[in-house]
Amino acid sequence: MSKPHRTIRLLLAAAALLAALVVASGCGTTKANEDRGRTLFEQKCGTCHALAQAGTTAQTGPNLDDAFAAARAAGQGSTTIEGVVKAQVEHPRPVTGNPSVSMPPDIVSGQDLEDVAAYVGMWAGVPGAEPPKVPGGPGAQVFANNGCGGCHTLAAAGSGGVTGPNLNEYLAPDDNAAGVEEMIVDPNAEIAEGYPANVMPQNYGEALTPKELKDLVQYLIENTPAGGNKPEGPGGEENDVGGPRN
Ligand code: HEC
Ligand code: HEC
Repeated sequence: MSKPHRTIRLLLAAAALLAALVVASGCGTTKANEDRGRTLFEQKCGTCHALAQAGTTAQTGPNLDDAFAAARAAGQGSTTIEGVVKAQVEHPRPVTGNPSVSMPPDIVSGQDLEDVAAYVGMWAGVPGAEPPKVPGGPGAQVFANNGCGGCHTLAAAGSGGVTGPNLNEYLAPDDNAAGVEEMIVDPNAEIAEGYPANVMPQNYGEALTPKELKDLVQYLIENTPAGGNKPEGPGGEENDVGGPRN
């Protein structure tokens, strides 16, 4: 969408030079794990940045697909973009207009930085990138596409995030569908005890279509204690709005 701005172009040039030097000196063999990088990205970067392959949609920082699309189209490779990402994480440029939204330095370092940078280098600006397909139906896909598992443990999704509460334990039988929906679209309405406010993205109400939201709520109702008196087994009566039965 946008041309990379001047700083990015300079960074890209510097990173390309560096990559060439590293390859020439024969020590360019980093062991990065992009799958791990994806999870870290969802947890640490997805709160501010949209990236299609990660399924993140936050808008505090620039959309990283847009930021690197032109560079990628111009033939810059993953290694180059990886270098720019590392430089930005280690020495974030301050936002001149509004320092309060600037990216904090060293959000990740060491192996975590290697993995995140390799992951972003692999996917940022790749046309048509989308999150991997997962089993479990439409709600499972919404959960996977929106980075929920990066922050939340949910057994059905096989996710192990610990930034937010474990949804298998936190959601209770008296959380009905409307309540679960509110937790997703308005997470600050009630803050889960012991967890920080403003960490869960606040924009799922806009980012998800009404159908996606409904599928997601249904998925959580089916796979956590939420939803109280649920139908037992197939063919049971749909009841996801009632309170606990007793
Ligand atoms: C608190 C919000 C926040 C978090 C968390 C965050 N960033 Fe940023 N990031 C920003 C902002 C704001 C900018 C824009 C800086 C500017 O305008 O120069 C930015 C810029 C960038 C850029 C440069 C893109 C461009 O177009 O200039 C990259 C690359 C980047 N971030 C990667 C990351 C990675 C990787 C992580 C996770 C390790 C991360 N960011 C975490 C807010 C954040
Ligand atoms: C970047 C981390 C992050 C992401 C991504 C995230 N959450 Fe959360 N979530 C949190 C944190 C932290 C809390 C606890 C603080 C609070 O209640 O807002 C939380 C709370 C919750 C709660 C309990 C809410 C409450 O009001 O007490 C639910 C349910 C939930 N998240 C579901 C989701 C779903 C579904 C998604 C994906 C659409 C998601 N979260 C994405 C971090 C995240």
